[in-house]
Amino acid sequence: MARVSEDLVRSDLVRSDLYDYAPASNLLLNEKVKELMASGKPVYHLAFGQSPFPVMESARLVLAQNAEKNAYLPVAGISQLRNAICEFHREFDGFEVLPDNVIVGPGSKELIFLLLAVFSGDVFVLSPTWTTFKPQARLAHHDAIVITTEYRHDWRVTPDILDRALSRSSAKNKIIVLVNPDNPTGTAYTQEHWKELLPVLIKHNAIVLSDEIYGRLNFADSHCSLVKFYPEGTILSSGLSKWASVGGWRVGYQIYPAQLRPLLDAVKSAASHSYSCAAAPMQYAAVTCFTPSKESKAYIAHECRILAAIADYSYQHLTEVGVRAVKPQGGFYMFPDFEVIRCALSNRGITTAQQMCDAIFEEVSVALMPGGPAFLRPSTELTVRLCFVNFDGSVALKASMAIGLHKPLPEGFVEEHCVLTVGGIQALKQWTLNQKASVSHDL
Ligand SMILES: Cc1ncc(COP(=O)(O)O)c(C=O)c1O
Repeated sequence: MARVSEDLVRSDLVRSDLYDYAPASNLLLNEKVKELMASGKPVYHLAFGQSPFPVMESARLVLAQNAEKNAYLPVAGISQLRNAICEFHREFDGFEVLPDNVIVGPGSKELIFLLLAVFSGDVFVLSPTWTTFKPQARLAHHDAIVITTEYRHDWRVTPDILDRALSRSSAKNKIIVLVNPDNPTGTAYTQEHWKELLPVLIKHNAIVLSDEIYGRLNFADSHCSLVKFYPEGTILSSGLSKWASVGGWRVGYQIYPAQLRPLLDAVKSAASHSYSCAAAPMQYAAVTCFTPSKESKAYIAHECRILAAIADYSYQHLTEVGVRAVKPQGGFYMFPDFEVIRCALSNRGITTAQQMCDAIFEEVSVALMPGGPAFLRPSTELTVRLCFVNFDGSVALKASMAIGLHKPLPEGFVEEHCVLTVGGIQALKQWTLNQKASVSHDL
């Protein structure tokens, strides 16, 4: 390939406000870890939140049958799919929505971006939060306002904190992005939390982009959608990527209240000018996934109990050695804080979460995402995002199915069937103990 000398490279091609725009750190780290694994280095990959489970059989079959679907489809998605999504939420969440208020897109990420791109007003995101919201807002010309949550509140936003943050904005329109159950903290909002937050939302006439993509993976099967409490102000964002284990199919959707119709129309227009429609074969296959069936209900129940067991295991073992964490209530993640070894680390010149994760990776081959700026946390806070889904989901699912849902998972299930996550947690636990021991040796 012809080389271009440095002084000929054009540096003024990108918007000046995006001078330091970086790619999604989770995807980048995943690629780096995958490269290392391919080169033969054994790695405990606890840095990427992808469902480990195999695709449901019925979904695989319908996808194959629809491979011939090659026409462009309606921008908002085929009506069968939008109907199935409504039926799905009626069945699982107990609320009614009209198919006309649903838009399907190539992943919920794209739809969130388009919503932020057309929205006029202030955008609020929590700290910590999923790494994508703030960069998306920035791409969409918003300087998102960060609302800091605290460990002592299980990382949930409280009415006081929310009220103070919203009161500081003079914008007429305000949108808050909330994730439930949360990535990265694993925390979930219950009916009581929504009841407390509701007066504040109403007082400020705030819109909530309620990202409930992990809703079906609430371990206690007690997902509480904000749509039930604040239907007039909630835009529900979800998709198939997590509970149906098909992130690569790129099927996501949003559901709008009638009051916010202009936003839905604007997102539809933006969709028509950017991606046209979600991929046709995926849409037809997705109808099967969203139509509640015995198969999908059992699949979700098995996923939830396996995830709950490995989440519990990870939480127990790390908190046993003094690492601080909220016990995950759903999804793939926890957000442990290694403050307990700050002293030992600072003796080694390690003062940031990034340096700590580099050391952990180097010394015990456990890949973790540092908390810090990517999650809108201070770089010196020793938090990390830990994904406990690095295990062979087909093995675990098969074993759980063989046991049957009428019996609980036996003791030792995760040690036997979630081998890689267990290995990673044990390596991390031992590493933490070693850091602690290094301080007591110094005394
Ligand atoms: C909180 C959250 N929202 C949205 C997404 C994106 O999902 P999709 O695959 O539908 O774009 C993810 C995936 O990582 C996520 O963690």
